[in-house]
Amino acid sequence: MICYVLSDTTIEKCLETVRRNRQWIDACELRLDFLDSENRKKASEFPSLVDIPVILTHRRKQDGGQYTGSEKQRRAELIEALDGNFAYVDLEEDMKKNELDNKAKERGIKIIRSYHNFECIPDDIYAKVSQLKKRGDVAKVAVTPNSIQDVITLFNAETELSGIDKIIIGMGAFGTPTRILYRRTGSILTFCSETETAPGQLSAKKLSEIYHANEINERTAIYGIIGNPVLHSASPQIHNPAFRAIKFNAVYVPFLVDSVRHFFFLAEMLKMRGFSVTIPHKIEVLSYLGDITREVKQIGSCNTVVRKPGLWKGSNTDYYGFLNPIENDIEEGRIKSALVIGAGGASQAIIWALRNRNVKVTILNRTISKAETLAKNNMCKADTLDNANKYKGKVDLIVQTTSVGLGEDVSPIPSFEFTGNEICYDIIYKPRMTKFLKDAKEKGCKLHFGDEMLFEQGKLQFEAFTGYHYPKQIIPEI
Ligand code: ATR
Repeated sequence: MICYVLSDTTIEKCLETVRRNRQWIDACELRLDFLDSENRKKASEFPSLVDIPVILTHRRKQDGGQYTGSEKQRRAELIEALDGNFAYVDLEEDMKKNELDNKAKERGIKIIRSYHNFECIPDDIYAKVSQLKKRGDVAKVAVTPNSIQDVITLFNAETELSGIDKIIIGMGAFGTPTRILYRRTGSILTFCSETETAPGQLSAKKLSEIYHANEINERTAIYGIIGNPVLHSASPQIHNPAFRAIKFNAVYVPFLVDSVRHFFFLAEMLKMRGFSVTIPHKIEVLSYLGDITREVKQIGSCNTVVRKPGLWKGSNTDYYGFLNPIENDIEEGRIKSALVIGAGGASQAIIWALRNRNVKVTILNRTISKAETLAKNNMCKADTLDNANKYKGKVDLIVQTTSVGLGEDVSPIPSFEFTGNEICYDIIYKPRMTKFLKDAKEKGCKLHFGDEMLFEQGKLQFEAFTGYHYPKQIIPEI
């Protein structure tokens, strides 16, 4: 079940929220602690106004809720609300057995016994779930993984605690895979909301339309992307709709990864079929691969890993993903020379690709030593950003590979005088129109955008993952 956490202040607004999200959800949680005092009195009416099971919850501040009053009053408000036809009531582990338990039993309302931890996962998490289950119908643990090792602990719950009705939630950025692959933790539901009511929660639409979380079963092939940070990545929007279009039972999930080594344990545990690799793991991942393509060997970095019999194989689709949008211009001789702005990990693959196509390259970088090293290795020239104007009218292509312009309206070469004849290419895709491209457009240059490269490299990854071409009818929202 996908369960929506209602955080509105009135019953009327909660009903509107359910209506707005109804197509994506199977249950909802009415949070008394978010309702104003007048509306708390009307809570018992709520379950009969919606056509999905409702969980009743009154969360204290210390457990991540809004309630700050006395325990006596909280109990009284919960008891009054239990006149309604709720499917479940959530009672925290430290709440002593009282008339609430009895009333819930009499009314046939199941008790979820819950434990919250916003700092970590306690060592005795499995014992905790068993204890909670003894005091309720369903055990719920909402805990905070701080590493990939912790994420492994949560996915292990499925086998360690099989046969126990439970809700397992991994909060925060590390927990996102446990929210999407909730059925692989053995959890009976996953929570969602529009406004984040707990760290790391996803929207109902995303869980349902992008990840199809409810349809994930033991036969679903799991793919993903590893990085740090990673949650901003648009790659799930590229792969998930395409899996669906070719009727491939698979899901693509973002994994925040602190240790590549530990991630490989998780990949084995989830029987993952492949994954994308992004900053900062593109080089470290090489140590764990049993086979690599020629491009990976030459460039020294890998962005695509696929399971092969007995080993993991790495390839690099950044190389062709970058070249694809400008291939015609190179073939037809319109690109013979290029300025590459930046000398980081991303520019390495780009420089290699351009040099392989016989394009003369000058690397401009804030730190000249890095540009010089790359230039030496790839038979290019190097210069500083301040000297950019020396190359005015002398290059056919300018590629922007630095992080300058990512989410902000600045250019790494603000005073560069474009002639209008240059082809300008920014690999940043958020925003699509960077300051660098705006300046180039003003002078009439032909532009290429970061989402083109992202999509092109993603299409090739899709082929590596599935063996099928990327479906033509899918235009991902990047
Ligand atoms: P990536 O792997 O994404 O390329 P990186 O290896 O950290 O990331 O490289 C970042 C690039 O952006 C580098 O070329 C960096 O220049 P330095 O080598 O001088 O650090 C460049 N860069 C980052 N911030 C910059 C800034 N404020 N001004 C100019 N260049 C910047």
